[in-house]
Amino acid sequence: MGKRLSPIGVENTEENRRLYRQLLFTADERMDACIGGVIFFHETLYQNTDDGTNFSQLIRDRGIVVGIKVDKGVVPLAGTDGETTTQGENTHGQSP
Ligand SMILES: *[C@@H]1O[C@H](CO)[C@@H](O)[C@H](O)[C@H]1NC(C)=O
Repeated sequence: MGKRLSPIGVENTEENRRLYRQLLFTADERMDACIGGVIFFHETLYQNTDDGTNFSQLIRDRGIVVGIKVDKGVVPLAGTDGETTTQGENTHGQSP
């Protein structure tokens, strides 16, 4: 999100990220036939629209599948020539 907000001069705060996501998720109904699924960050799962509908419900009500991103991005993989691996996030006590 920082990469989206910074070029347009918007501070990377949770509220601005929420507003940007709301803008995308409330695009008109032409979106519904074009998007099969949305991968949420952990943060997105707990965010709501201005009227209190959570983003997960909003997306599912549009017939779009919600997925969750379970890694924290790539890090260099030791012992390789520049290869990377994902850094896991394990907040629920389950295997990835
Ligand atoms: C989103 O709202 C629906 C309907 O009220 C509820 O069933 C669901 O648990 C909520 N999801 C989250 C992540 O709060």
